[in-house]
Amino acid sequence: MKRFFSVLLCLTMICCMAGCSGVKATEPASNVYVIGFSQVGSESDWRVANTRSMTATFADDPSYELVMENARQQQENQFSAVRKFILEGVDFIIIAPTVEEGWETVLTEIKEAGIPVIIMDRSVAVDDENLYLTNIGSDFLRQGNLAVEWLEDEIPEDKEIRILHLQGTIGATAQIQRTKALEDAVAKHANWEISSQLYGDFTEAKAYEVMTAYLKENKDIDVLYSENDNMTFGAMRALEEAGISYGNGGQVKIITFDATREALQYCHDGKINLCVECNPLFGPRVKELIENYRNGIDIPKHVYVDESAYTTQNITQEFVDSREY
Ligand code: AHR
Repeated sequence: MKRFFSVLLCLTMICCMAGCSGVKATEPASNVYVIGFSQVGSESDWRVANTRSMTATFADDPSYELVMENARQQQENQFSAVRKFILEGVDFIIIAPTVEEGWETVLTEIKEAGIPVIIMDRSVAVDDENLYLTNIGSDFLRQGNLAVEWLEDEIPEDKEIRILHLQGTIGATAQIQRTKALEDAVAKHANWEISSQLYGDFTEAKAYEVMTAYLKENKDIDVLYSENDNMTFGAMRALEEAGISYGNGGQVKIITFDATREALQYCHDGKINLCVECNPLFGPRVKELIENYRNGIDIPKHVYVDESAYTTQNITQEFVDSREY
């Protein structure tokens, strides 16, 4: 009998401990809203600033936990990350898609798991818009149009120009729309020609590599249309090494996208002619959207951020110094 009571006591203690540790393990989880975030990668300064904005926004609020997975620019890695988030039972998912195509299956899996999802930065090409709550990002076509409008003002109709086009990740919304704006404009202007389209994958290293190879054979360039700042930095280095001048008063006019502080400084100093803004600081706006969703407030299907374009004429050093990214 004594032995029976000791075993019973032991079992009760084990149950209590298990119960206590169970409460400890589950208590914070039930109070903390867990967000799984599948990020494209860290290919550019823009992306680094975007990651910082997202992580800082949620780190400041203990009622949230942001779990980020870096896809290293591979869509397959994004699929794995999302499936992991579903298995872990996160409360919310944010996806910054590498490319537009191929999301139907995994978004359907998220929907079947009952998890709300925001598409951030770039877009997804799916027939059913109900597969996601909202898409917050830039109007990339407007960005491209700002660039070509500036070029239209710069170039007289009787002057023939050769445009070298550096493209970002093929299939990403930022690439598709910025390319569309340029190609549509070239189709309208008989004196504009795209001399070549080089693949720079939104990275400085790749752009430097392809530009260096290209410039060995071709030096006849009037305009460089580069789909992000980091590719522009790589291209500038290659142009310098090839002895080709650029910027205000140089042989090559440079158009770049993002308008990071470094690019704005070059613009201010006359080395870049036009910086078209692409704002990466989404963190606070994404959080607001999630809170509206949680409070049952309707949120729009598409949310665009406000953006401008800058030249040497319309920026000051103070403006450059105050740039957050
Ligand atoms: O999708 C936004 C683009 O992706 C930015 O222009 C670029 O710098 C980034 O890598």
